[in-house]
Amino acid sequence: NLVNTVKEPETKKAFDTEMQSFFYLFTRYLSERAKSQDLNWDHIKSPSEDKIVPYSKLPSGETKNLNKLAVLKVNGGLGTSMGMTGAKSALEVKDDMTFLDLTVRQIEHLNTTNRVDVPLILMTSFNTHDDTLRIIKKYANQQLRITTFNQSRYPRIFKETLLPCPKSADDDKKNWYPPGHGDLYNALYQSGVLDQLLAEGKEYLFASNSDNLGAVVDDKILQHMIDSRSEFIMEVTDKTKADIKGGTLIEYDDTIRLLEVAQVASEHIEDFKSIRKFKIFNTNNLWINLKALKRIMELGEMELDIILNPKTTDDGQAVIQLETAAGAAIKHFNNAHGVNVPRSRFLPVKSCSDLLLIKSDIYSLQHGQLVINEQRMFETTPVIKLGDHFKKIAQFQKRFKKIPKILELDHLTVTGDVYFGRNVTLRGTVIVVANEGQRIDIPDGCILENSKFVWFRTS
Ligand code: UTP
Repeated sequence: NLVNTVKEPETKKAFDTEMQSFFYLFTRYLSERAKSQDLNWDHIKSPSEDKIVPYSKLPSGETKNLNKLAVLKVNGGLGTSMGMTGAKSALEVKDDMTFLDLTVRQIEHLNTTNRVDVPLILMTSFNTHDDTLRIIKKYANQQLRITTFNQSRYPRIFKETLLPCPKSADDDKKNWYPPGHGDLYNALYQSGVLDQLLAEGKEYLFASNSDNLGAVVDDKILQHMIDSRSEFIMEVTDKTKADIKGGTLIEYDDTIRLLEVAQVASEHIEDFKSIRKFKIFNTNNLWINLKALKRIMELGEMELDIILNPKTTDDGQAVIQLETAAGAAIKHFNNAHGVNVPRSRFLPVKSCSDLLLIKSDIYSLQHGQLVINEQRMFETTPVIKLGDHFKKIAQFQKRFKKIPKILELDHLTVTGDVYFGRNVTLRGTVIVVANEGQRIDIPDGCILENSKFVWFRTS
């Protein structure tokens, strides 16, 4: 019925196709739910050694195949956990440059130093499309070719009745959602961008999250993909106790698969989080063979595990979103496997604590790529825990007049109503706690070294 609310024939056709894809996903969800098709936990095995190749074992040397590569950023998310309402990739992260600016720098550098023409493809959603177009406008006259395409827009569903929230195709934004980055394959195919890339002679796609600053093109992985005749490579990295959310690779009934936390029954969650049983997690840096992708799409075989995302509307009603993850496609490709990469290839900004680290003097930029400051004495980066007062980006910006110098910092915890002045230096372990109803102002030029509790001025 939603389709009948559209008048213009062209829009109607596109909307109809989109609703059919949604309907297919929705029907699958209903039938899987009825059959209770949960994974059998006892059948889940860690992948065999040959399925996770250490990055250090890949032969060094440059690849001659960069001209067959395209780079794609999944850019449909809003970064709601950081309180953002526009495209997260439009956030200034370093030296006044946004995530997108940094990506553009990196690829321009790749193209000029190697005399190749690697295009940048951006998958946007109805939430991020306008923001993205605004940013890339300024690159119109540059050497880099940028293509954008929109991912799908699916209706949210009321949990109780299973009826759609929107009443018409142009109903309010809040009644719709972008169905996860797994939508990438369908949207790439339906938009015609997949065919366009193949027609240009592009054979490989390096896809990653637009907020992962460590996801730069890597010659060694591309060449390994070609040498091992692998149609799909997932970059994974060693899990630490803090990485409890990321999906992991498993072997299930002799196929390699992605297992996301949302697919794990509550009684196995602790097991899932354990770093002994599941040693690695998915960085969402994915290398995809485009001809193989076309084959799978044409056969209609790109079925991805459904992730149920429960949400509550502004007026308190329970709704569901059916989503998919890009990494789940691994099971459909030949010779697909993981490459265990150094942590430096996974530098996402998921919180304002991550943002503080990235913006700080721990990192500098080289051709759009983050590099650790040589003057940092320790191998690890500091652990930063900013409390709820710093959760939203607007609060973060208000509370730091300037980003403190943290080159010699090990650990920072900040809780409560705290403000940082200019030219503050933090060293060792610093803990700042403002109790309820109190405010702490760290004055300009202050140096805090191994301070367990700091109290300057209350107001
Ligand atoms: P996440 O959902 O993990 O990150 O998406 P996020 O944008 O920080 O989300 P919040 O803070 O939970 O709201 C990881 C990547 O996938 C993209 C995002 O833009 C991000 O680059 N993405 C996510 C899409 O392109 N489409 C989607 O439907 C969802």
